[in-house]
Amino acid sequence: MREAVAGRANVEETPELAEYYAAIDRLDAGALWTVANRIEPWEPASTSVPMLWRYAELRGHVLRSLELVTPERAGRRVVYLVNPGRREDVAAVGRLYTGLQVMNPGEKASAHRHSTSALRFIMEGTGAYTVVDGHKVTLGRNDFVLTPNGTWHEHGVEAGGSVCIWQDGLDIPLVNTLEANFFEVHPELAQPVSHPVDDTTALFAAPALRPAEGWDKPYSPLLKYEWAPTYDSLCRHAEVAEGSAFDGVLMEYVNPLTGGPVMPTIGAAMQRLAPGARTRAHRHTGSAVYQVAKGVGYSVIGGRRFDWAERDIFVVPSWMWHEHANASASEDACLFQFNDLPVMRALGLYREEALADGHQAA
Ligand SMILES: [Fe+2]
Ligand SMILES: [Fe+2]
Repeated sequence: MREAVAGRANVEETPELAEYYAAIDRLDAGALWTVANRIEPWEPASTSVPMLWRYAELRGHVLRSLELVTPERAGRRVVYLVNPGRREDVAAVGRLYTGLQVMNPGEKASAHRHSTSALRFIMEGTGAYTVVDGHKVTLGRNDFVLTPNGTWHEHGVEAGGSVCIWQDGLDIPLVNTLEANFFEVHPELAQPVSHPVDDTTALFAAPALRPAEGWDKPYSPLLKYEWAPTYDSLCRHAEVAEGSAFDGVLMEYVNPLTGGPVMPTIGAAMQRLAPGARTRAHRHTGSAVYQVAKGVGYSVIGGRRFDWAERDIFVVPSWMWHEHANASASEDACLFQFNDLPVMRALGLYREEALADGHQAA
């Protein structure tokens, strides 16, 4: 790929050069100027495409898997969402994986641990729980729980609960790209609950108060982030401030001890779009998977409009223009997201820019 721009590779093919390329190719080597413009693009060009998956279309298939496979046989009973541009890596966007997991009351999946980090966002049902390194966490609608890299974890639904569906979010494609992925099944297939139920919430969820308890792990000790205090915080914020022109009121979930992201490789946030709100377009490095936690509206991503309703999932690829709108004039809308921004920031790769005209033509 030649480019007639000073500073870029622009070498004309000649028979002599062709011979030279063939000679070094036989030594598993190459001339950088033949590939430089391709491997060093002017700006990120994501192979992912913007996508939206409608819950109304997926839900029946997710429930059908209850009849087709058991958690024992499947390991995890999940319908994954795959980006047409990232099929091989089973990524929903960029280096992020997502799927919908379903479980009957009384079922539980075997305990395991892996190098990938995960979170689960509860979409429907009651009685869901997760055990993380002996800490049992109870989960309700729009709550999410962390199962960080290296922690033993297992998921289940109490016998007295109802069929639960949740969204799994993982960094599987990232960890596989880095060739650092290990997986272990717990020798007992289950782990004992060794702490009081929901103890990490009692210990670490106090607003703006840091407990004296020590914690030396690289991820948040607050394993569960509940919907009620999250939504309350967004509404209180919205009463006194408009928030960002690009996101409305967006609040990041943080490690309460450090103010940093919930896990080293995955960040999460919830944003509130006021009734009738329409944000301005921006773009940034980093990929995001969104889940509509509340309301109806649309997002314009890379010039395409995606209308969404509660429980739909959509993705924004890295460095793609995006803007959001609440289609209701009376109700607010809330978008949950998880992303790879902690990786971008840690590696010094985060960059952001506003669209001069404010909105894309869709
Ligand atoms: Fe897992
Ligand atoms: Fe954004």
